[in-house]
Amino acid sequence: MSSPTSNGLEGIVVADTAISHVDGDRGRLVIAGSDAEQLAAAGGFEGTVQRVLAAGGAKLDDPDLGHARVAAWEVVGRLGDALDAPDAMDALRTSLGHLRTTGDDLRDALAAIGAAPVFVAAWYRKRTDQPLVGPDPTLDHASDYLRMTTGQPPSREAATALDAYLVTVIDHGMSASTFTARVIASTGSDLISAIVGAVGALKGPLHGGAPGPVLDMLDAIGEPGRAEPWILDELAAHRRIMGMGHRIYRVRDPRAAVLETAVRPLASKRLELARAVEHAAAKILHERKPDRPLAANVEFYTAVLLDAVGLPREQFSATFAISRIAGWSAHVIEQRRTGRLIRPASRYLGPMPA
Ligand code: COA
Repeated sequence: MSSPTSNGLEGIVVADTAISHVDGDRGRLVIAGSDAEQLAAAGGFEGTVQRVLAAGGAKLDDPDLGHARVAAWEVVGRLGDALDAPDAMDALRTSLGHLRTTGDDLRDALAAIGAAPVFVAAWYRKRTDQPLVGPDPTLDHASDYLRMTTGQPPSREAATALDAYLVTVIDHGMSASTFTARVIASTGSDLISAIVGAVGALKGPLHGGAPGPVLDMLDAIGEPGRAEPWILDELAAHRRIMGMGHRIYRVRDPRAAVLETAVRPLASKRLELARAVEHAAAKILHERKPDRPLAANVEFYTAVLLDAVGLPREQFSATFAISRIAGWSAHVIEQRRTGRLIRPASRYLGPMPA
């Protein structure tokens, strides 16, 4: 019997996968056979895309994301009012919906992976009344995304840090959005439909929507000495501390350490503050809930890193999607190979006819 606060789905295995594995007790994330730390240190989003797609069952020699970004740029003029949405995730969801499926999962996957940074950067430039910047296919995905957003070539440090972020968050077990993508794929629907649905699932603040609020929290705290009283006030007001706690991890999220290391060369002023806030939050939450380990999750240092590389906070969740689309695509391809409809059951609690 599930607990009253549970939805009864915790820990239920809904798929076999070779794409990623989350060990919540030991704080370990394995992506396509390698630890996330190793992959991030080696760098290269393009190579990691190739690995996760191969793990899902689709072999490709060269994930030419530069070419895919250029193809997406040709669609930007046909997006109607999709880029006028006030929320970047709404703009991304609607603009991805404009991609036409080819019926070939791998081709659709490359189209969607290439399109996401082009559409998100175009949304930001349009929203801030700046001329749109088209892709440069000779650049790597991280550098080009930064360039299309800011209009400037990024520093090597910023591009390397963003690349490490994109690699680290590419896949993470059966997250809510990944499950969404797999359910849609299992009906025989196309990959673009699965990606659009997954973007909708990722948008929620309990999933991919936390890094913006983490930065708001750091701004509100302002200096390390104010961390403890601010956190105590938040808890007294029955609010949760953003960037802390995780459904699966019972120790610090391993991705938090990867991102903390990746942002260090950028000498972000916020890093020192973030460490102090994390320390204070972990200490206070441990005192309040000694039986429920609540440590920093990926969103905590995502906020610091994405801010340090120069991305606006309205773009944080969509930047998560820019990476995770590759993971979702691999899951769609893997799910398709099973050929099996995912059809869970519900428990009827209503009255029966007399
Ligand atoms: N701050 C304060 N208290 C927290 C907390 C947080 N960040 N996260 C969990 N708790 C508390 C809950 O209030 C609950 O207390 P209660 O038993 O007295 O009601 C207890 O810890 C267990 O929480 P629960 O809701 O069962 O945990 P969960 O596994 O459902 O939640 C999250 C996981 C991620 C949704 C949750 O930790 C959270 O909301 N974190 C903040 C948002 C965030 O950072 N999201 C990004 C996730 S990657």
